[in-house]
Amino acid sequence: MNKILSIKNLNYTYKTGRYSVPALIDLTFDVAEGEIFGFIGPNGAGKTTTIKILLNILEIQKGEVLLSGKFPSRTDSREEIGYMPEIANYYWYLTPRELLNMYGRIFGIDKITLKTKVPVLLNLVGLENAGDRIMRTFSKGMMQKISFAQALINDPKLLILDEPMGGLDPVSRKKMRDVILELRSQGKTIFFSSHELSEVELISDRIGILNNGSLLAVASTKNLLTNKGTSQSLEHYFLDIITNK
Ligand SMILES: Nc1ncnc2c1ncn2[C@@H]1O[C@H](COP(=O)(O)OP(=O)(O)OP(=O)(O)O)[C@@H](O)[C@H]1O
Ligand SMILES: [Mg+2]
Repeated sequence: MNKILSIKNLNYTYKTGRYSVPALIDLTFDVAEGEIFGFIGPNGAGKTTTIKILLNILEIQKGEVLLSGKFPSRTDSREEIGYMPEIANYYWYLTPRELLNMYGRIFGIDKITLKTKVPVLLNLVGLENAGDRIMRTFSKGMMQKISFAQALINDPKLLILDEPMGGLDPVSRKKMRDVILELRSQGKTIFFSSHELSEVELISDRIGILNNGSLLAVASTKNLLTNKGTSQSLEHYFLDIITNK
């Protein structure tokens, strides 16, 4: 498989005052180009920590991460990445159109291209009627949508999404699912964390289960089989693994 993301023996410990929290312990796995990889695990498992390391928001303490062969510390490793953070916290006094234009310019996209690209993205996430409203007035779900659009502005090869479906209504979730599947059909890779296991099951090619900083399993969603050979829901598989049955 052609690896777009490779993580080897990654360890990360938060040190705050007298406390030290080991958040990642010897994490090792790869994501193949063109796949949808669902990263799941209980609250506090270390999913966001992993994602922040990929984006160089947190610095690697021990281990190795390669994004298309590049270390996250290299600025150009992020040129072809789209990132949707766990908490959509943007300039609240901007409108979605202004925000997307700003991110577009950061990626070096010219004004003429943005003039067509921004409305397409607003439409894609269902914000076509809110493009010129100040984001201060936005609901949680609307902020999720603009955050998703922002992650797509640079036409990324690799999308890294931290709980993209949190707070979305069922219709909007379906819409996001369809966009993600369409992106995969264009050859893009999607790495995302989620607690919505039914959604994860619907779109992922493979899943990784993290618990207390350790990776407990990596599995193909098509092969989620019980010992008896009958198919099992992702939720069952997840609960069995987490509760160590
Ligand atoms: N800034 C921080 N300082 C200290 N500890 C932290 C910090 N951020 C995260 N942690 C700890 O690291 C561990 C992993 O947290 P992380 O946010 O990566 O989990 P997560 O899997 O994303 O959880 P969730 O599903 O709730 O988003 C937790 O024990 C958390 O308390
Ligand atoms: Mg998280």
